[in-house]
Amino acid sequence: MNAAPNVIVVGSGVAGLTAALHAYAAGCEVTVVTKAALAESNTRYAQGGIAAVTFADDDVDAHARDTLTAGAGLNDEAAVRALVGEGPARVSELVARGVGFDRDADGAFSKGLEAAHSYPRVLHAGGDATGREIARALVAQVLSTDIVVREHALLLDLVLEQGRVTGVELLVAGVRETCTADAVVLATGGAGQLYAHTTNPAVATADGIAVAIRAGAEVADLEFVQFHPTVLPALPGQHAAFLVSEAVRGEGAVLVDATSRRFAFDAHPDGELAPRDVVARAIDRAMAGQGGAPVLLDATMLGAEVLARRFPTIDAAVRARGLDWSAEPIPVTPAAHYLMGGVVTDLWGRTAVPGLYAVGEVARTGVHGANRLASNSLLEGAVFGARAGDVITRDAASAPWPVRRASPSPTLPATPARDAGPFSRAALQQLMWADAGLTRSTGGLGHAASVLASWQHAPHTLRTAADHEDANLLLVAAHVVDAARRRTASVGAHHLADPGRAVRPVVELRGGHRSRAAAPLEKEPLEKEPLEKEGTFAC
Ligand code: SIN
Repeated sequence: MNAAPNVIVVGSGVAGLTAALHAYAAGCEVTVVTKAALAESNTRYAQGGIAAVTFADDDVDAHARDTLTAGAGLNDEAAVRALVGEGPARVSELVARGVGFDRDADGAFSKGLEAAHSYPRVLHAGGDATGREIARALVAQVLSTDIVVREHALLLDLVLEQGRVTGVELLVAGVRETCTADAVVLATGGAGQLYAHTTNPAVATADGIAVAIRAGAEVADLEFVQFHPTVLPALPGQHAAFLVSEAVRGEGAVLVDATSRRFAFDAHPDGELAPRDVVARAIDRAMAGQGGAPVLLDATMLGAEVLARRFPTIDAAVRARGLDWSAEPIPVTPAAHYLMGGVVTDLWGRTAVPGLYAVGEVARTGVHGANRLASNSLLEGAVFGARAGDVITRDAASAPWPVRRASPSPTLPATPARDAGPFSRAALQQLMWADAGLTRSTGGLGHAASVLASWQHAPHTLRTAADHEDANLLLVAAHVVDAARRRTASVGAHHLADPGRAVRPVVELRGGHRSRAAAPLEKEPLEKEPLEKEGTFAC
């Protein structure tokens, strides 16, 4: 590798753009590749804010404790320390880059409270448009540099030579291109499109995880899929449901069932502000008890003026559905939101494959454990994006790649399901929603595994970008289901209706898989059981 490494960052959310800017500042030649427009990413849709210790009466130990409690103790503590310890510096950096966090009349940051935080440490911008503001500022920064931007370029695979990443294969307007690089940073976000109901935009098709698996990287914790408790049902013709930020409950809104009863306290003493996985399951149970009808979020006590000022984006979406949430409760349901697992990295974003880094939602640092604390994801992108961007030149100059576990070789036996039907993305999303969703069962996961096995063995044509995305979703779905089948105790976001039954996984997967021993079964204290042309592009 030369003194000025040539770095490709794939993905343009907070993690990717931060990594790009840090690598650029460290002297790298940087290209950002993104499958849609530069400003499109999960980051852009983040509402609630960014959690970090910025007030004198808050402290990093409290932020760490909240993160560990929400994560059901399965977090990597060193990763948590890095996140909360470097959080304040990364927030200052965002401010210096032009992010306009909301401030009170005295000029201090406005405080926001979200579930499972012991302190109102969540900073927000534009009321509920924090992600949009961060994306705006970072995009402007990137465009003010010599960083090369390639939009509408889908990552197909990594190019490897002797086990080391030497570039990427892209699909650009139907044309395959090979692009050389000394280092590649995956910042491709999550996998919300695995599910029929998700807050994630259409781009969240698990591409980075699938590409990393095919390259032999290690993945872990894929069973931990976070479902956000409150979304507005999707409008006709839209796949993504509209997020109603947890900050709305942080401001005082409450959840009620069809009889107007507040049910969240049945599940946890913190009620609506319990960890996200607990509240989502409480809603799921309440919905099951009323024939599947959505529960209601009552924000009427906040009044029309506060709702419009503090939550302008949600206010507009609510009103677009013909609802007036200052006058009546609105229907809400859970939806897939965030993946705690992903490509295993060290604290500097290094994966098991030399030259390959992963940051943000695509990565599994262990920082979130079994359930992410609200508003820690923008922070994760800023902290670990910066770390990876900073370390690439150092790695190039000296460090041998850390020795890491090899991935098992890929095998996938056919286990056909009689009712599999033909593969389609919608069928996959329905299967995952039904069998690998908020509450899982041994039988449901087994069914999902056999349907996925038969789909994996069907011939697939990979011509269009959508075909490649489907293949990625299919591969990652199989890993999610396999990981869920291996974890036989309920913990965090992985919740089994019939915990403790030994499951012998039947699906062996292509590419890397690591399964940790099932954690001891420790339930949340009060939660009740349920109850193409070819070309070469030198960057
Ligand atoms: C929200 O605003 O409720 C989502 C924030 C997050 O995912 O952390």
